Amino acid sequence: MRLSGRVALVTGAAQGIGSAILAEFVREGATVAAIDRKRNVEQVCHEASGDDGQAIPYVFDITDHETYARCVDEVAKQHGRIDILVNNAAISFYGDIFEDSLEQWRQTYRVNLEAVYWGCKLVAPHMAKQRWGRMISIGSTQAMATDGRVGAYATAKGGIISFTKSLAVELAPYGILANAIAPGCIHTPMSVIDGVDETQTEFFKEWYVKRRKIPLARPGEPEEVARVALFLASEDCSYITGQTIVVDGGLTITF
Ligand SMILES: NC(=O)c1ccc[n+]([C@@H]2O[C@H](COP(=O)([O-])OP(=O)(O)OC[C@H]3O[C@@H](n4cnc5c(N)ncnc54)[C@H](O)[C@@H]3O)[C@@H](O)[C@H]2O)c1
Repeated sequence: MRLSGRVALVTGAAQGIGSAILAEFVREGATVAAIDRKRNVEQVCHEASGDDGQAIPYVFDITDHETYARCVDEVAKQHGRIDILVNNAAISFYGDIFEDSLEQWRQTYRVNLEAVYWGCKLVAPHMAKQRWGRMISIGSTQAMATDGRVGAYATAKGGIISFTKSLAVELAPYGILANAIAPGCIHTPMSVIDGVDETQTEFFKEWYVKRRKIPLARPGEPEEVARVALFLASEDCSYITGQTIVVDGGLTITF
């Protein structure tokens, strides 16, 4: 029970990596406020809750700053503390600089970066008061290496890595650790583009699996990211801050 008595917020908890993190945290005894704009986060919470921990759904869009602030207030009042924040919700779109629009960039930034800042700002005073906290933001290997057509997404994810370093320095005196995780190709609804699961295409199988562009020769599973989030959220992580942990089966070490 590595998170017994801990209170966590997880954004984008309705599916994919977010719901895997939610399940892992609950299994380890945490109370989790599960935030998503999709209503099925209620069902995910229902299924995850058990004798050990519990998950409480909050349905709203994290770019709605006032609602986000009310949610954090409510969680702090009801449970008396906030220990862990996982900034996981994100969006992406595909298009190069000739195709994309300023509004697409702005919306990507609002969700993938601005809401990360806002969430950290809202929980920081609670964590500082109790002299303990863990902020975990989900970045992406797209911030380090890219095949193009994801400029706004890659730039926002790069921003997360830089922001995490800044947070780590500012919050260390308060016992708050800030780290990021950069997943590679993970098998989630986000890997389905225009109805095609990118991890199942002939190109993926040939290039990433057969030719081992991913040395571990397979896409990752959401649980494999969730277990890293659990480590970063727990007492096991006591001397790591400002870092980005890459979870990509070796993808970014190959040419
Ligand atoms: N799947 C991958 O291969 C992969 C790779 C690298 C990084 N990531 C990152 O991992 C994280 C999770 O990815 P995933 O694949 O599980 O994505 P996903 O699309 O399957 O799930 C994202 C969740 O976030 C929610 N969400 C999006 N915008 C929101 C908003 N404005 N307000 C509230 N909720 C919102 C969605 O409703 C959804 O439930 C993201 O940060 C993503 O960028 C994923």
